[in-house]
Amino acid sequence: MTEKLQIIQQNFAIDKQTRNKLRGHNSFVIWLTGLSGSGKSTLANEIEVELFNRNINVFILDGDNLRGGLNKDLTFSETDREENIRRVAEVSKILMDAGTIVISAFISPFEKDRRMAKEIVGSDNFIEIYVDCPIDICENRDVKGLYKKARNGEISNFTGISSPFETPVNPDIIVNTNNESIKQSSDKILASILPKLVIHE
Ligand code: ADX
Repeated sequence: MTEKLQIIQQNFAIDKQTRNKLRGHNSFVIWLTGLSGSGKSTLANEIEVELFNRNINVFILDGDNLRGGLNKDLTFSETDREENIRRVAEVSKILMDAGTIVISAFISPFEKDRRMAKEIVGSDNFIEIYVDCPIDICENRDVKGLYKKARNGEISNFTGISSPFETPVNPDIIVNTNNESIKQSSDKILASILPKLVIHE
């Protein structure tokens, strides 16, 4: 029998709004979803540099990096991917509440997990960006050599090959890294997020 944990949320005097006021900008989560090799990390980097250069508090959470530490106990099974996204969404929320713009770049292939992330963060502060790129282009790029390994059967549950990627149902922004340059895609994203940074009293 599992014992019910007795946890009571504590409220502290300094909240997100107060921190945002001090920093001079709002904080929220920019969630990049898309296939491996679609350009999520490259785009995250581009957006981060642009924001950083405007004196904005910004931080990237990236699948490969977090899976080397916080999430190193997780595989690519459906259940572990769900746990990956749950943890990452919780960390995103913590950083956001601390006043940081969070750019979260994860394949996040399942609609239900993206919905969960949005729920954890709060829908008003969650901008879902679908980094759209056809699988054959991602496979051709094969920056990490993983598609080749997946085709050879050296990697199982590989997204797009032996594990599904569910196209986002209603993303806030879609960028297509096959037809657009990284600069064009990041400009499109920036155009929509920069106004959200402004605090309206
Ligand atoms: S997610 O599906 O759980 O959101 P996440 O973004 O954290 O994935 O990690 C994806 C990265 O792990 C890929 O960019 C790739 O480099 C690496 N990887 C290793 N094995 C797999 C696999 N089976 N499927 C997808 N990505 C994999």
